[in-house]
Amino acid sequence: MSAIQAPDASSPAHGGTRLLDRHERGERVILAALDFGTPDFAESVAELRLLSKGAGLDILGEVQGKRSRPDAALFAGSGKADEIAALVAATEAEVVIFNHELSPAQERNLERRLQCRVIDRTSLILDIFARRAQSAEGKLQVELAQLQHLSTRLVRGWTHLERQRGGVGMRGPGEKQLETDRRLIGVRVKALRERLARLGKQRRTQRRSRGRQNVLSVALVGYTNAGKSTLFNALTRAGAYAADQLFATLDTTTRKIFLPRRGEWMGGEAVLSDTVGFITNLPHDLVAAFRATLEATAEADLVLHVIDSSSPGRERQIGAVEKVLTEIGADAVPQLRIYNKLDLTGVAPGLGRDEYGRLQSVYLSAQTGAGLELLREALSEILVANRDGNNEISFHSLCVT
Ligand code: GTP
Repeated sequence: MSAIQAPDASSPAHGGTRLLDRHERGERVILAALDFGTPDFAESVAELRLLSKGAGLDILGEVQGKRSRPDAALFAGSGKADEIAALVAATEAEVVIFNHELSPAQERNLERRLQCRVIDRTSLILDIFARRAQSAEGKLQVELAQLQHLSTRLVRGWTHLERQRGGVGMRGPGEKQLETDRRLIGVRVKALRERLARLGKQRRTQRRSRGRQNVLSVALVGYTNAGKSTLFNALTRAGAYAADQLFATLDTTTRKIFLPRRGEWMGGEAVLSDTVGFITNLPHDLVAAFRATLEATAEADLVLHVIDSSSPGRERQIGAVEKVLTEIGADAVPQLRIYNKLDLTGVAPGLGRDEYGRLQSVYLSAQTGAGLELLREALSEILVANRDGNNEISFHSLCVT
């Protein structure tokens, strides 16, 4: 099912190095990105590079261009397609990755023109998801997302074929095959949905039985690479995976942390969940497929929104995360923004409150540990307020204490 396979899938970090030994390297790719005048173009290209490296690919070159709108047949213009074809021939690249969503027809036309495999950004993200899924639930979700992506393409392919009805070799068997494929996919999708629903039910029962008295359930969310896993590890001192790769975290990991004593209160616990990283233009199918995992976020007492404060695109990233939170119904959950990586920005650790003194943000570095204690204290403050009364009201009245 994987769109791309690196020779050594167990060590995806190879993507960054240009080793001469072919066996040591990932697949040889060219990146193609077209600028349609969007302000975040440079950043999205940087993200595509990071995604490709995360998938263990060897980037041989990049082609960029400007256009007012995509070409219907080739996405890029004819001249640009020839430029990419020349680079493919010169570097012997195996795959061209477009930083966009391509229609199946565009993909096919490009493959013919460039004489190599062509994939789009969504397929790349799906491939990374497929490599990273660890738990049974994560694997099922990835398979569901892949099948859904595939079935939309089959539907589009079907329409395309319908237009060519009567073409040589196109009538009958081709259509029948597509119909069978779609039916099989439909059956599998239904089975996956049912299994995921069962797993979700089990998870919800476990969550409920944990009780909420002296426990604060906290969900870590954030744009991919913001530092969620690093913060999770720093808080729990668990050696989970933190890497400079997009989507290193795919499944939800849950751990308990102890919160410091606060005045009369003897201290308590928070159950912390690390979730999949968000990304701009995460295809809708994918968000839907991960709904089960993300459901935990909507049921949490508190959302910690981790932000890479050193990223020039942080405002756009914050917007992308907020959008997904709204989509999964977690926008009503109280939120604390964590401005991470302040070792790179020179900002001092601290707590941010609004004009009423309400806790809004924590400035810290998950990597150096600066400001981590402030976060623990902030969590205690929230837990005490939660315990003393109505969750929402007490959260918002934290200021006055
Ligand atoms: P996804 O799994 O893609 O969602 O990423 P994530 O949000 O879990 O990020 P992760 O913790 O894997 O961190 C991404 C990169 O940022 C790693 O290289 C970390 O070492 C780095 N990083 C995390 N926190 C800090 C920090 O406070 N300062 C600096 N300089 N780097 C950090």
